[in-house]
Amino acid sequence: MINSQSIILKTVILFSMAILAGALPQQCNKPDAEKIMLAQAMKAGPAPGETCVLVQHCFRGPDDPTMEQSKCPNGADPTHINNPEISYFTPTKLKRKDSQDAFKLICPFMDQSGDLCCNDDQVEIMNSVFGKDCSICAANLKRMWCDYTCHPQKTKFVQATGYQMDPDDGNLTLTNFTVDPDYACTITDYEHSLIDNIHSCDELVPTNGIFDNYIDCQNCTCAYCDKACKPPEVSADIGFFDGFNKELVGISYGVLIGFTIIFQLIRHFCLKRKLQAEKVSDSDQSDSLLNQKMRKESDNDLILETNDYNQRLQNQRNKDD
Ligand SMILES: *[C@@H]1O[C@H](CO)[C@@H](O)[C@H](O)[C@H]1NC(C)=O
Ligand SMILES: *[C@@H]1O[C@H](CO)[C@@H](O)[C@H](O)[C@H]1NC(C)=O
Ligand SMILES: *[C@@H]1O[C@H](CO)[C@@H](O)[C@H](O)[C@H]1NC(C)=O
Repeated sequence: MINSQSIILKTVILFSMAILAGALPQQCNKPDAEKIMLAQAMKAGPAPGETCVLVQHCFRGPDDPTMEQSKCPNGADPTHINNPEISYFTPTKLKRKDSQDAFKLICPFMDQSGDLCCNDDQVEIMNSVFGKDCSICAANLKRMWCDYTCHPQKTKFVQATGYQMDPDDGNLTLTNFTVDPDYACTITDYEHSLIDNIHSCDELVPTNGIFDNYIDCQNCTCAYCDKACKPPEVSADIGFFDGFNKELVGISYGVLIGFTIIFQLIRHFCLKRKLQAEKVSDSDQSDSLLNQKMRKESDNDLILETNDYNQRLQNQRNKDD
């Protein structure tokens, strides 16, 4: 989204949120002014008509082209810009055509050819911060930064309160930025959108991408906008086949049944043939067994007969004796 930290880096803002009488209950916490370190108060106030405060420039060397001539020579990112300087002045028009064209895209609800409290460098600084991004949330923030930087009646809601040296961020300009409480809360809390030109992040961007006069806008994705995450429709009914993977189970059973059928068929035909073969050999075998048995029996008979004969012979001999 927006790299607004880079702007905040050079500018500490105090949100004061007590403008609307009978303000509705607020969900977001009021920023603690005590946390902002002591600032050197600005002594000189604005002269009549000086409705602008805070001016910012990008770094330009003595040999570099001036702001009226061309863009920032080294870019307008946070490493190539001064911190905002506290001074009061009357609104002026943008000097260059390319700045006006850029401004029309960044702040489409403001008149790019009218008097403004920002200069060409500041338009370029805003452009480098915003880039091409325009989600619905970005549109809300852009609107706020456009007013904060360029509104021709800026002193009505922006007060410069001094400078402060920060060990990490260096020279900071302290400002007191007064915003409508609903506006402040809707920027951080989209649930409570009460102002017409502040948009809820689940609003639909028309297919042509033009949203609140901004071009190239996209619908907010679920990742950035909780409200865009519609819960899936879940039925509480539990059916008999719920959680049943019909395809997988069907395939498993199909394979099992097919395999069983094939196995039984193979078994049936092979066994039949085997049984037949066995029957044949069995009858052969039983025949021979029978013969053997019969032979054996006849042998026995023979032996018996022989024994009988021997016995009789013996008896006869005994008799003879
Ligand atoms: C901080 O910046 C302002 C404006 O650029 C300048 O007037 C002031 O002297 C600076 N303060 C320090 C301590 O550098
Ligand atoms: C900021 O402005 C509000 C309202 O005008 C005022 O009450 C508050 O004291 C100011 N804070 C500072 C640090 O100047
Ligand atoms: C935003 O979503 C709506 C509804 O899904 C769709 O009709 C529209 O084209 C989308 N807008 C963009 C810019 O994709």
